[in-house]
Amino acid sequence: MRGARVLAAGDGLLTRTDTLLERWLPREVNPLAHLGPAANVMLLLATLSGVLMLVWYSASVQSAWHSLADLGPRSLGGIVRSVHRYSSDLTMLLVLAHAGRALLARKFADARWLAWVSGLGLIALVWFIGWTGYWLVWDQRAQLLALDTMKVLDVLPVFGEPLQRLFTSDRTVPSLLFFVVFFLHMALPLGVAAGLVLHVARLSRAQWLPDWRLIAWLAGAVLLAAAVYPAANAPVAQMAVKPVALTMDWWYLWPLAITARLSGGGLWLATALAAAGLLTVPAWLARRRPRAVFQATVNVSRCFACTLCSHDCPFGAITMVPRTDGKPFPSQAQVDPDRCVGCGICAGSCDTQGIGLAWFDAQQVARELEGLVVAGVERGTPPALALVCAQTGGGWELFDHVAWARRLPGYAVRPVPCSGWVEPKLLERLISKGAAAVLIVGCGSAEAFAREGNRWMPARLDGTREPAFRPNRADPRRTAHVNFDPLRSHLLTTAAQRLRERQPVAPVQAGAGSGRCWRRPS
Ligand code: HEM
Ligand code: SF4
Ligand code: SF4
Repeated sequence: MRGARVLAAGDGLLTRTDTLLERWLPREVNPLAHLGPAANVMLLLATLSGVLMLVWYSASVQSAWHSLADLGPRSLGGIVRSVHRYSSDLTMLLVLAHAGRALLARKFADARWLAWVSGLGLIALVWFIGWTGYWLVWDQRAQLLALDTMKVLDVLPVFGEPLQRLFTSDRTVPSLLFFVVFFLHMALPLGVAAGLVLHVARLSRAQWLPDWRLIAWLAGAVLLAAAVYPAANAPVAQMAVKPVALTMDWWYLWPLAITARLSGGGLWLATALAAAGLLTVPAWLARRRPRAVFQATVNVSRCFACTLCSHDCPFGAITMVPRTDGKPFPSQAQVDPDRCVGCGICAGSCDTQGIGLAWFDAQQVARELEGLVVAGVERGTPPALALVCAQTGGGWELFDHVAWARRLPGYAVRPVPCSGWVEPKLLERLISKGAAAVLIVGCGSAEAFAREGNRWMPARLDGTREPAFRPNRADPRRTAHVNFDPLRSHLLTTAAQRLRERQPVAPVQAGAGSGRCWRRPS
């Protein structure tokens, strides 16, 4: 990936901020860890308060301004109006942060292009809804943005008369256009809902909303802002009066800062260039790879139709389809190349190696690790192994073997695609062959590349998710899953030391929750 170091540095900074916040807050309440779902909460609040506004708002050029100006700042209508304004602002802030975080976490390549492109569409739609919202107040801000909108539209060769002329006097301001803007403002949120369905279409178990405590904090913050700084109208729009100094809501009205400097054509060009950049730069950073190089493949002869991989895949990329090889099983796994991101979690679900990554073949890796253990046992020094998520620190190309050897003295460190790649039977085999310890290190990131590996692995180890580690096959005290906390790497070193001494190891970092229980159908 191009720019991997820069992205990893930004992502690392956010992960460090998370771990700092999560010393005091549970991960469920850390807004940085749930930016997309938090944006959804604000979208819902904006929609709800917008619908309520219809009780007081009058949608016409003549009465719109008065219907809002008459609301007392601390009346119910005034509070609802302010909640509508601030929840819209917070939506934009959260969406931008969510997009930035997805970029730094390298979540734009391969199958994720759909989430990326639909996300950009959503951001444009949310912005446009906000822009039309400011029009509806029909104050001097609305006057400015109406004139600037006309300036941009006048460049298009579709209108006979320049539209700007319609706004030369109050008498000629078109009521129909005002109504169209009102209609768009009401109808486009439906487009956002449809866009969101597309946005998360390639995720399993997409988190639509955050924990109720975070919802309460966010809603409380908006209510507080509404009570302390009630939203207010600027002076009423009058075409004969040039708007003077106005306070601006830059989340939505930022184009006003450039419309004065650029011509209508210049604005179209700047918009087209910005859109092309946002759409193509991630594709350029990602360097297109042939799918066969990184995606999971099924070895049908080793698939026994247990369906576990299809439940574990965080991207809904595996379906069970009718058998093609005549074996007496009801189905076989099939990977959808449009959805697979090559995370490797399915390899950890399959205890018969029926599915996995050709570039990180589980059987070959198992042979190498077993060879290492057997050789160590023969020398009289049973080795301790650490299987470290390669996404910790920015992905394979940046995996720092020296730093990991320093953090885990006495361990032979092996990067793996994700902690969820590790199949419990591999642990059982390594331990029963004599490994002193097998430590699995998860990235622990709130924006984990493989989304759910850090949930499935601890659950497999504690026996609540299949394929489960079987304590009757190997000593469970010799293995543990620990999430890496980059701000306190000494905790990992201590945990690794304790594991070698067969003492209990506590999870190092918040967010190491166990996965929802899924048991193999009997
Ligand atoms: C209205 C605006 C948006 C909302 C409400 C929203 C919300 C969400 C939600 C709820 C998820 C699922 C989170 C999860 O289950 O882990 C998600 C995923 C995602 N979003 Fe957004 N999003 C928005 C805009 C954007 C934008 C502008 C981008 C980037 C350009 C973006 C990029 C992504 C990506 C890449 C994922 C997939 C994450 C993954 O694969 O782990 N989103 N979004
Ligand atoms: S986990 Fe393995 S055996 Fe089970 S359905 Fe998937 S490929 Fe087949
Ligand atoms: S590698 Fe496996 S788990 Fe990951 S997206 Fe592809 S099919 Fe799903």
